[in-house]
Amino acid sequence: MRLVLQLLLSLQAASLAPYRVTFVKPESVAGVPCILAPPSLAKSSLALLRRAGWHPPRHLRRVDGDGRAYQLSDAGALALAAMLDDDAGAAADGGSAPEQRAAADGGSATEQRAAAKELAALVRAGRLRWAPLHQIHAPLVEDARHEPPHEGHFVRHLPEGEAPAPRTPRVVTFAELFAGIGGFRAGLEAAAGAPPVPAVACEILESARRIYAANFGAESLTGTPVQRLDRLPACDLLMAGFPCQSYTEQAGKRRRGFRDPRGQLFWHVVRLLAASELADRPEALLLENVRGLREARGLWPGEASGGEPPAGSALEACLAALSRCGYAVASRVYDSAGALPQARERVYIVAIRADLAAAGRFRWPALERRGPRSIRDVLEDPADAERHRVPRALYRSVVDSAYHAARPRARFPDVDGPANTVRATYRRSPKLFSQFVPLAGGDPPWRFLTPREVARLQGFPDDFVLDAADEADQYAAIGNAVSPPVVEALCGALLDALG
Ligand SMILES: C[S@@+](CC[C@H](N)C(=O)[O-])C[C@H]1O[C@@H](n2cnc3c(N)ncnc32)[C@H](O)[C@@H]1O
Repeated sequence: MRLVLQLLLSLQAASLAPYRVTFVKPESVAGVPCILAPPSLAKSSLALLRRAGWHPPRHLRRVDGDGRAYQLSDAGALALAAMLDDDAGAAADGGSAPEQRAAADGGSATEQRAAAKELAALVRAGRLRWAPLHQIHAPLVEDARHEPPHEGHFVRHLPEGEAPAPRTPRVVTFAELFAGIGGFRAGLEAAAGAPPVPAVACEILESARRIYAANFGAESLTGTPVQRLDRLPACDLLMAGFPCQSYTEQAGKRRRGFRDPRGQLFWHVVRLLAASELADRPEALLLENVRGLREARGLWPGEASGGEPPAGSALEACLAALSRCGYAVASRVYDSAGALPQARERVYIVAIRADLAAAGRFRWPALERRGPRSIRDVLEDPADAERHRVPRALYRSVVDSAYHAARPRARFPDVDGPANTVRATYRRSPKLFSQFVPLAGGDPPWRFLTPREVARLQGFPDDFVLDAADEADQYAAIGNAVSPPVVEALCGALLDALG
């Protein structure tokens, strides 16, 4: 088999020149969360899944003879993963199945809980297998024109391109998944000569949609979750900043990666690409996520059940899947600090359809600094500054913390330098994630940045409307957004390559 693979690999490399081709083990390519049951437990575990309310009935697959793979709903997967992760929970969950069944008679919520606990106990005992990445949808993303299925995945890497020919003016159509407030669109509009035409912008959060609509109009904007989209409308460019919480490093917590249903939303981008014929897929993709995508390792049920971690990082799995959809791919970390006064390292994935000449013409751009150079340059003189003054109790708990002792600049950055990364939790978890600027004439002499100042740190122009949503939602949406000037540079390079 190894010989066959090597032969295929060399043929592949030859036929796809000039792409560099690498090989990723199949384990690193995620599927959907499932419970795998042996024949003896097939019926009873399905009943338990239904009682727990975790089972979307339509996904029922046969594996290993009479064994079954039962797909869990997103909520079910999240709940089970949390129960298995939670050691304290494990101790508390140790009740016997009959006891739990008795408890279950007390009403449907109790019954659900009892069934959930029983399932978790069976997994812990090794009688059921928790397969958070079972490849139940493999045929959907199969479309393996270039790869032998199930043996592994070839990844076509974008070569460092030649100098692109001058761009011909064209109107670009684009789709924006997980659109937020439209950071991608703001960057694309700045890069494109002619106003780009939206095909679809998909965002589930109403407050973000309100800000998006106030700036770009509601045409093409939908609140339908990406999982429910059947197909992508025809477009030249697909942009997406898929949710990053599960790849973000947080003190004391492991990255949940593909273990977390939010971390699996990327696979719906792949599903949507695979739903169209190759020639109808977008010519190029631009995706963004946190740096942690490079380190997150999908999930390994092994942590709960003794199995082996899958090979490859979540980023590699993403690149392999896009490559399987017919794209040549590349990724790079950019720090918004190259263009803005904010440290913000993010992974950007660029993918260009491998059947297009454009794939040989892409060059990573350098970031350019045109606007503010320091925090001081973004500060306004808010009339309502007092409203933003840091409450005394919060100030005390921040300065008394061990974190502050170790990193005094984290919460009180030098206003003549760049800000630290602005997060969605800026105002919601101020003790952990805020940074303050000086405010004289009171105690403590510090205030929060205003939403406008945070938007400037992200590179949104001053005419970008923010007040279509509550202030708390503005902070969250801006902290979640991609920095438009970085997108502008990347879209410029993509449009140059597309010609
Ligand atoms: C990292 S943010 C992307 C922000 C965006 N790039 C911007 O510039 O504003 C991810 C966004 O995905 C949205 N989201 C999460 N799950 C979603 C889903 N299932 N379908 C559509 N949008 C979703 C979140 O509400 C959030 O706004």
